[in-house]
Amino acid sequence: EDAERMARFDARIDAGEYIEPKDWMPAHYRKTLVRQISQHAHSEIVGMLPEGNWITRAPTLKRKAILLAKVQDEAGHGLYLYSAAETLGVSRDAMLDALHTGAAKYSSIFNYPTLSWADVGVIGWLVDGAAIMNQVPICRCSYAPYARAMIRVCREESFHQRQGFESLLTMMTDGTPAQRAMVQDAVDRWWWPSLMMFGPPDDQSPNSAQSMRWGIKRNSNDELRQKFVDAAVEQANVLGVALPDPALRWNAARGHHDFGAIDWSEFWRVVGGDGPCNRERLRARVQAWEDGAWVRDAALAYARRQDAAHEA
Ligand code: 3HC
Repeated sequence: EDAERMARFDARIDAGEYIEPKDWMPAHYRKTLVRQISQHAHSEIVGMLPEGNWITRAPTLKRKAILLAKVQDEAGHGLYLYSAAETLGVSRDAMLDALHTGAAKYSSIFNYPTLSWADVGVIGWLVDGAAIMNQVPICRCSYAPYARAMIRVCREESFHQRQGFESLLTMMTDGTPAQRAMVQDAVDRWWWPSLMMFGPPDDQSPNSAQSMRWGIKRNSNDELRQKFVDAAVEQANVLGVALPDPALRWNAARGHHDFGAIDWSEFWRVVGGDGPCNRERLRARVQAWEDGAWVRDAALAYARRQDAAHEA
């Protein structure tokens, strides 16, 4: 690209302008947005699997209705995000092929199993809580279609987090000792993987510098992780659950909570495809894609017939 257009683009970003699909943009800006938005969409779709596992086993009709609404929301978030990515010139088929072949990533967090009903509440509280921390800044992402998609996603996410927290509070305040133990066990299993959702430490994050320069990433991975820890500690106190980190303590000098070391070898193993449920999750997605082929074929045939009728 000529340097002049790059300089003009950087000046637009520095002026806080938003980039629309038809605007000129550096190829690398387009490429990193396709990468991030498509993987964000994959995360939403794969994210339906862990909690979908409990829809038929929800303890009451109210909890079942709430969980159904949440899982349906995630599907909608995925569709918004695939549509936002398509504005950059990538096809839906290409993005899904990248997911099914393992070429594309999706959030590591969804490769962990949901072993009890309390997992559903902890996912709402911690996983959607972390997702909100990470997604609110994206409402100001310099790429306008992504920012617009995030505004509606974030509104629905706050319902997801609140319903999770409320279900845990119910079990912790009115539950039996066994239910309280079930909640604590779920917190113990989901705490560290939730911290990993924010991505590697800033000094091991190859995309951060450029993404922050271009206003795609407004806050660093470590900054959002710290914000999440500070909020979660207070919420855990209200719930009466212990967070599984003996090094967690308030540091008045920093004005934040210090916390223990994250096992980044686990993170990279899960991101690399070797987590507890990676194969099961991808198999479920490929199976759904194959089972749905007849629906896509019928819809495309119908659309072609409609077009032909209009042209006639
Ligand atoms: N899981 C899987 N891969 C991850 C990851 C995670 N938790 N965190 C980072 N990575 C990957 C990155 O994608 C990148 O690989 P790539 O270059 O092949 O894409 C590599 O690790 C290095 O990470 P970087 O920090 O350099 O990458 P980014 O600058 O892209 O930052 C990110 C990572 C913070 C996740 C950023 O991509 C982002 O903000 N993505 C959009 C938001 C998102 O996807 N949130 C998690 C989805 S959970 C969700 O929304 C569902 C909710 O409804 C429950």
